[in-house]
Amino acid sequence: MSFFQIFTSIFAALLLIFPADIASLSQNYPKKLINFPIIVVDKSGGGNFTTIQAAIDSVPSYNTRWICIYIKQGVYREKVTIPFDKPFIYLKGAGSRSTFMVWDGHDSIATGATFTSQADNIIANGLTFMNSYNYPINGSGNPMMPAVAALIEGDRSAFYRCVFMGLQDTLWDVQGRHYFKHCTIQGAVDFIFGSGQSLYEGCTIAVVAGALNGSAGYITAQGRSEANETNGFVFKNCNIVGNGKTFLGRPWRDYARVVFYNTTMSDIIVPQGWDPWFSVGHEYDLSFDEIDCHGLGSDTSERVSWANKMRNTELQQLTSISFIDDGWLSNFYNILAI
Ligand SMILES: *[C@@H]1O[C@H](CO)[C@@H](O)[C@H](O)[C@H]1NC(C)=O
Ligand SMILES: *[C@@H]1O[C@H](CO)[C@@H](O)[C@H](O)[C@H]1NC(C)=O
Ligand SMILES: *[C@@H]1O[C@H](CO)[C@@H](O)[C@H](O)[C@H]1NC(C)=O
Ligand SMILES: *[C@@H]1O[C@H](CO)[C@@H](O)[C@H](O)[C@H]1NC(C)=O
Ligand SMILES: *[C@@H]1O[C@H](CO)[C@@H](O)[C@H](O)[C@H]1NC(C)=O
Repeated sequence: MSFFQIFTSIFAALLLIFPADIASLSQNYPKKLINFPIIVVDKSGGGNFTTIQAAIDSVPSYNTRWICIYIKQGVYREKVTIPFDKPFIYLKGAGSRSTFMVWDGHDSIATGATFTSQADNIIANGLTFMNSYNYPINGSGNPMMPAVAALIEGDRSAFYRCVFMGLQDTLWDVQGRHYFKHCTIQGAVDFIFGSGQSLYEGCTIAVVAGALNGSAGYITAQGRSEANETNGFVFKNCNIVGNGKTFLGRPWRDYARVVFYNTTMSDIIVPQGWDPWFSVGHEYDLSFDEIDCHGLGSDTSERVSWANKMRNTELQQLTSISFIDDGWLSNFYNILAI
C-alpha cells in the first residue's frame, strides 16, 4: 500500500468511526503530581527520535521510573514493541486523529501486531493503532486475514482515548489487568479477543461487519479456559455502532466470560446475541451477560437460552472497578496529569 493509500484509508476509516464527535469527551484529571522525563518523537526531525521504536529502545532495561514518550502528529509506519524489560512507559500521542501507528502484519497473530506491549505498567493516551492490511475496508484487494493492531500482554496497562483499527482480530487483549477508557475499537470478526482481565469503559465499539458479504461478525472472542481463572471482558457505558450484522461474541475457550453493562446497542446485533462456536455441549460453562443495556439491539427476548445466567454476586464483582484495580489504576491518574 502506498503512503497516499494509507492516508486515504485512514481518512475514510476515521469518517466511519467518528460518526459523532467523541473527541469532544473531556475529563478533568487531578493536577500534575509527578515530574518525569519526556522523550519527543517527531517524524520530521524536531524531537529526540524520528521513530517510536527508537524512543522505546532508549529507555533503560528494568526501568523503574515513569518515562513519557510524546509522539507528535504524523503517520508512523512502523511495527512497535515495548519489551518485557521496559515497564513504566507512558506513550502520549497528539490525539487519535493526529498520531497514527500503522503496520500491515498478517502472517501470524503472534508476530504480526502493529503494536505489541509486553511490559507491566504501561499507559497510552491519544493515539491510533492500526493494522492496515484490510484497509480500505471493502477495497483493499486483500482477503480478510487475522491482522492484529495491538497485542497487550503485560499487567497493569491502561489506554485512554486510543483508537484500534482492523478487521479481524484487531485487539488481542492477551492477559493481565487492563483498562480502556474512551477508546474506539473497530473490526468485524473476533476483534476484541484474548484472556485479559479487562474493563472497557465509555468505549465505542465500531462494527464494520458490512464488509463480510452478508455473514455476521463477532465482537468478542474471550479466552477464559478454566472456571478458576479471574479473566473476562467487561464493557461498561459503551456504545456499539456500525454496519452489517454481528454477534456480541463467541467463546475462544470453554469458560469465556463477557459482560455488557449499561451499553447502547444499535440494531446490528443479531437477536440470538451469542454463538457457541467450539463450545457446543459446554454452553452452560460460558458466562455471557447483558445488564441494563439500551438501544434496538439490546432486546434479550430471543437470546440463546444459555446467556444471561450469571449470579448477582459475580455480576457485582465484575462491574466494580475492583475487578481490575487494587490501587494501580488509581495511581495512573497522577501520571496522566502531565
Ligand atoms: C531530548 O531533546 C531535548 C532537547 O534537545 C534534550 O534536552 C533532552 O535531553 C533529550 N532527551 C533525551 C532523552 O535524549
Ligand atoms: C462495505 O460494504 C458493505 C456492503 O455493501 C457496506 O454495508 C459497508 O458500509 C461497506 N463498508 C465500508 C467501510 O465502506
Ligand atoms: C467479499 O467479496 C469480495 C468480492 O467477491 C471479496 O473480494 C472479499 O474478499 C469478500 N470479503 C470477505 C470478508 O469474504
Ligand atoms: C484451576 O483449575 C484447574 C483445572 O480444574 C487446575 O488444574 C488448576 O490447578 C487450578 N488452578 C488454580 C490456581 O487453582
Ligand atoms: C450509562 O452510560 C451513560 C453513557 O453511555 C452514562 O451517561 C450514564 O451515566 C450511565 N448510567 C449509569 C447508571 O452508570
